Amino acid sequence: MIVSNWKMNGSKLSVEKWIKEVSKSILPKENVPCVFCPPVCYLDLSRKIIDENSSPISLGSQIIESSTQTALTGGINSQMLQDYSTDYVLIGHSEQREHYKEDNASLRLKLNSAIDSQISVIFCLGESEEIKNNNKTKEFLADQLEPLLEQDFGLLTLAYEPVWAIGTGLNATSKYIDEIHGFLKDYCQTRFALKQNVSVVYGGSVKLENCEEILSSNNVDGLLIGGASLDPETFSKIYNFS
Ligand code: PGA
Repeated sequence: MIVSNWKMNGSKLSVEKWIKEVSKSILPKENVPCVFCPPVCYLDLSRKIIDENSSPISLGSQIIESSTQTALTGGINSQMLQDYSTDYVLIGHSEQREHYKEDNASLRLKLNSAIDSQISVIFCLGESEEIKNNNKTKEFLADQLEPLLEQDFGLLTLAYEPVWAIGTGLNATSKYIDEIHGFLKDYCQTRFALKQNVSVVYGGSVKLENCEEILSSNNVDGLLIGGASLDPETFSKIYNFS
């Protein structure tokens, strides 16, 4: 899976241009979904352009609320995402964990909401520089995985995004990524007794120049790309490498 996370970027024009260009440039592979996560205000427009162009792109949301209760100013719930035929949702991104003070309990509710609505979850997790330097990464990630316990997900995708690598230009080395992805897969398989495999994608300063090396590990099942995904040409080239 190759995911474009636009964060708080874009306009109606750039969304339209991106979808049209990427749809023409990528060589779609059945086992490699191409997922576009624009700001939520562009989901409707994106769905329309994807459908009009018979595009192979799947739609993802950057947000979801934990409940469908109507008294939440600014909230976007799972039913609204279903209205746009949103296929995926990012949950637990480090920027949201920090700014919206998300904790394991609130993330568990968001997971429930997505799973109940059959929206595929891309669950993000990753350690800070301090945790890495104190050799506490695996313990920390194990704790971040707790909201997944006893969840009935059909397909599980984790996005390992070390906080120190997001938007900094400092990607983790392929050896480190391979080790952490291997740990996440083994941990989930044992702790959650999963019947199916866990996919783990990597995010954090992925660029055209480093994508091939990152993807060379057997433990890397795809990429979650922020800044470098804004340019349709760069994103399409990265997709075509995968
Ligand atoms: P970046 O962001 O590629 O700009 O580092 C990745 C992300 O936050 O998903």
